[in-house]
Amino acid sequence: MFLDSRWSLPSNVVIGGGNDKKGGFQYVVISKLGVRMRRFLILSALLILLPFSAFSEDKGKQLYDQWCAQCHGYQGDAESYARNFTNPKPRDFAFGVYKFRSTPSGKAPTDEDIIRSIRKGNPGTSMPAWKRFSDEEVKAITEHVKKFAPDTFAMKGQAIKIGKAPSCGEDTIKKGKEVYKSAKCFDCHGDSGRGNGQKGWDEKFKDDWGEKIYPANLTHPWEMRNGASPEDLYRTITTGLSGTPMTSYMDSIADEQRWQLACYITSIQLSKKLGVALPVKKVSAIPSDIDDKMWDSQGYLDIPLGGQIMFEPRNFIPSATNVRVRGVYTEKEAVLLVEWSDKKPNKGDDGMPVDSAIVQVPSKLTDGADKPYFFRGTDKAGVALYQWKSSASDAATELNAKGVSDIKEQERQDIKASGSYNDGTYRVIFRRPLNTGDQDDIVFDKGKFIPFSVTLYDGQNTEDGSKGAVSAWYYLMLEPETPMKVYILPPVVSLIVLGVGIGLHKKLKKG
Ligand code: HEC
Ligand code: HEC
Repeated sequence: MFLDSRWSLPSNVVIGGGNDKKGGFQYVVISKLGVRMRRFLILSALLILLPFSAFSEDKGKQLYDQWCAQCHGYQGDAESYARNFTNPKPRDFAFGVYKFRSTPSGKAPTDEDIIRSIRKGNPGTSMPAWKRFSDEEVKAITEHVKKFAPDTFAMKGQAIKIGKAPSCGEDTIKKGKEVYKSAKCFDCHGDSGRGNGQKGWDEKFKDDWGEKIYPANLTHPWEMRNGASPEDLYRTITTGLSGTPMTSYMDSIADEQRWQLACYITSIQLSKKLGVALPVKKVSAIPSDIDDKMWDSQGYLDIPLGGQIMFEPRNFIPSATNVRVRGVYTEKEAVLLVEWSDKKPNKGDDGMPVDSAIVQVPSKLTDGADKPYFFRGTDKAGVALYQWKSSASDAATELNAKGVSDIKEQERQDIKASGSYNDGTYRVIFRRPLNTGDQDDIVFDKGKFIPFSVTLYDGQNTEDGSKGAVSAWYYLMLEPETPMKVYILPPVVSLIVLGVGIGLHKKLKKG
């Protein structure tokens, strides 16, 4: 048989030739497609004959390549485009070190551990919670993931026993607080658990992958990568997060005390109060102290923040994830108190941008639901920005913006702001007359929904200008004072009802 090259042929056709049975010469045309078809049929037959496990292996790889590789890399080595935009980086499975385990430090995670990460995700990171896979599929993916580090999984990891959480009563929480102190958790997590401990500020505070790492903010359950329930916390504290400075406390803290710690952490977790509007109540006077108790009695609104990614420079990994806003007003003034967690204060004297907060309101109020574009408005519908900077002067600036490239200081400055940083928390108050008398400013009228949004900047994360943590539009409303009759009416009405009731009762008894 030889190949004939006399004719130019389509690429999927091969020509061979040979002597036929009668000694004559014959050309034979074989299409490549035919060859492929035959191979396919043989392979398919083989596949059907192969045991199911081999099939699911293939399925695992296929699903991994489709859904995981864009972050974790096709070879499981976290070499991916996405790694440039995430912090923490996607796990390098080939490295063989797993953070989230129910097994002792240094041991392989169990299949259930890997499946938990896949199903629940790692909150506060780019690792999503995957609901789309069947149990079979998750198992197949898990098998594939394990193959990237055969040495790690040569020995099966044995899960520790996690009993049932005690009821987290006042006494248990108090004891947990003591353990938090005696075990020096505050060295890294800060006195109040906001991730602002001294150790975390060290430039050399890194994980085993060589990346800068920060202690977790234990008051933010929505950012707890390994879960925020008492059982999750107990597991984290007991087994540690391998590859990070968060070590295992299995040997150094007694079992009962680890549960007390878990209870204590649950007790300091903020529960978010989400909504669309902040009710602002009237008070007789505004306290001069930013930490005045009056503020604690005011209602608040928690506002989720995300990175600004519409304009350069974009912020894919913003520091702040939540801002809590409160407000009060008097006959003359309105005050907003803005509060958020920040692990390290930057006042502009450390080569980093200053920490800063902006409250944004529209330049004009419309009757309809129309609001300016959410980030700095446009030339058609502008916004006013009240900016506070954590510089030595503790200063406020009022700006007008008509888009990101058109931001100017207002001629008349009517805003006052001042802030404080205490144990991982910023508190800043913005203060302005209800009516500034300036035609550039909106009037804060009682009973009106006034749109506002918040931008926060963390200098440590090189946030500045367009690179901030931003919110959508929310509303604040200066609640009109309650008319006296609302207070008087209900008792009067109930008295009448009571009177009628008694009368009726007597009548029924008589009849
Ligand atoms: C958008 C990016 C992204 C995608 C897609 C993604 N991951 Fe992740 N994954 C991460 C990041 C980031 C982490 C690290 C979290 C951390 O370190 O706290 C992570 C962590 C994990 C962990 C925890 C490892 C440990 O140390 O315990 C597992 C398991 C995991 N991913 C599996 C998967 C699987 C399986 C898929 C696909 C179904 C997937 N991931 C898809 C970003 C991603
Ligand atoms: C040497 C510093 C250091 C000490 C001391 C330390 N931690 Fe941590 N801890 C960390 C770091 C860093 C992380 C974040 C790891 C990461 O980013 O994955 C962490 C994470 C955690 C988490 C997990 C949060 C999550 O995302 O799921 C908990 C819970 C926790 N620590 C509790 C404690 C408790 C309780 C103590 C004291 C017994 C303690 N830590 C002591 C550094 C420390």
